Amino acid sequence: MICKPDAVERGLVGEILRRFEQKGLKLVAAELRHLDTELLSRHYAEHVGKPFYNELVAFMSRSPAMTMVLEGPDDTFAIVRSLMGLTNPAVSPPGTIRGDLGTVMTENLVHGSDSNESAEREIGIFFPELAAE
Ligand code: CMP
Repeated sequence: MICKPDAVERGLVGEILRRFEQKGLKLVAAELRHLDTELLSRHYAEHVGKPFYNELVAFMSRSPAMTMVLEGPDDTFAIVRSLMGLTNPAVSPPGTIRGDLGTVMTENLVHGSDSNESAEREIGIFFPELAAE
């Protein structure tokens, strides 16, 4: 998962990680880093060319993001996404990260892999040393 630049700028990384840890997931890797356009085009390959893509890349590259790997039971990606809430914070239910802490797209605080396959692919992009294990 990624705490996006808005989450880092607003000092919400601790609050977000607290929710995942209290749920029972384990932090196994983390790095605060500036995501550049090339890296983002690989990460967001399925969004390249969409109307919101340029705005998304400008947002995701404007300041550092906190990239993390969380470990848990089978289908941990689904647990992460349920805690995150819906893509649009404006309609994400209270109790979720986006519902409690966000208001508008594109600044929706967090990214979570949407399948086990995506998680494997994204760990390969952000933490190649873990993917090689
Ligand atoms: P996420 O689901 O993590 O990955 C794609 C991101 O693009 C999404 O979060 C939002 O931050 C951003 N985005 C902006 N507009 C849209 C849109 N109309 N549909 C989907 N994602 C959008």
